[in-house]
Amino acid sequence: MTNTSVGWSIPIGKTRYNKTVYHNINKIPHAKVAGATGSGKTEFLRYLVTYMCMRYSPKQLEFIIIDLKNGVSFAPFQWFPHVRGIFKTVPEAVKAVKEAYQTMVERLIEVERLRAVFRREPVYSRLIVLIDEGGELSPAFAVTEEDKEMRKTAMHYLSSIARIGREPRVNIIYGTQRPDADTLPVAIRGQLEGVFCFRTENELDSKIVLRHEGAEKLRWIPGRYLYKSPLVKHDIEIQSPYVPERVLKRLIEPLIPSNTFYDIPRDEVRFKDEQMEQGDDDIGLDNVIRIGDWGE
Ligand SMILES: Nc1ncnc2c1ncn2[C@@H]1O[C@H](COP(=O)(O)OP(=O)(O)OP(=O)(O)O)[C@@H](O)[C@H]1O
Ligand SMILES: [Mg+2]
Repeated sequence: MTNTSVGWSIPIGKTRYNKTVYHNINKIPHAKVAGATGSGKTEFLRYLVTYMCMRYSPKQLEFIIIDLKNGVSFAPFQWFPHVRGIFKTVPEAVKAVKEAYQTMVERLIEVERLRAVFRREPVYSRLIVLIDEGGELSPAFAVTEEDKEMRKTAMHYLSSIARIGREPRVNIIYGTQRPDADTLPVAIRGQLEGVFCFRTENELDSKIVLRHEGAEKLRWIPGRYLYKSPLVKHDIEIQSPYVPERVLKRLIEPLIPSNTFYDIPRDEVRFKDEQMEQGDDDIGLDNVIRIGDWGE
């Protein structure tokens, strides 16, 4: 249980006029992150995990991370105490989604009990199911009947969470290149109200994500995206923050116990250093965020 006063507005980048934009995950519990390959989705998801783990305690926030591209992008996060696990294959993902679903159901039962017996409203910690390359979960890509059933079960759990996860605070952030009907059933898609649409391949993909064209015309700058939310009238063009590898390494190193057995040996966690910038040594929360140039 956590304190009600904690704020859930997350900075999600800057506009061309240097104004920081916030996304309130309490008001808009589920979101999708879409865009062509190389447009910046994974980097943005990594930023979100880093920012939220720095800002909230593990009692306030937990993550279930599903990375169907092999888990490498999110491997460093295994040491954040907020992260329940990083799941890399379809069977693992199904188990993880089921775990989130069960957490949600247990909470819903408890809410009823607390209301009836104690006339009290519990405030739960937030559990975010963050999925990268969610399209890989699609039943359309199944190779056997059994595989297909498993994927359908995952979609069933996800759609339940998308429908009723708001109150028990189980949220979905779903990253995929193209959330068409094959990769993301319409019933789930409609509930993912926060939209982070990076540059798309074409007009059709933009229409699938945003319900209008435009994302195909974004400048080809990684991290540039259109933000759509039921709380804002017009889509906002934003440059996303990212976390330089060296910064991430410095944040995580103190969390790694020295003589424990891990899923991934410490040496296998690689950090690319090319994004290192001067001044990164001073790791305050502000320094976690780097915003690229507008390029104009
Ligand atoms: N906000 C950003 N600022 C600066 N550079 C970025 C930003 N986001 C991404 N990049 C650069 O672009 C590269 C590709 O980004 P990323 O891996 O996030 O793309 P993606 O959309 O996940 O692609 P894919 O669909 O192939 O997984 C990153 O390795 C990084 O170098
Ligand atoms: Mg990616």
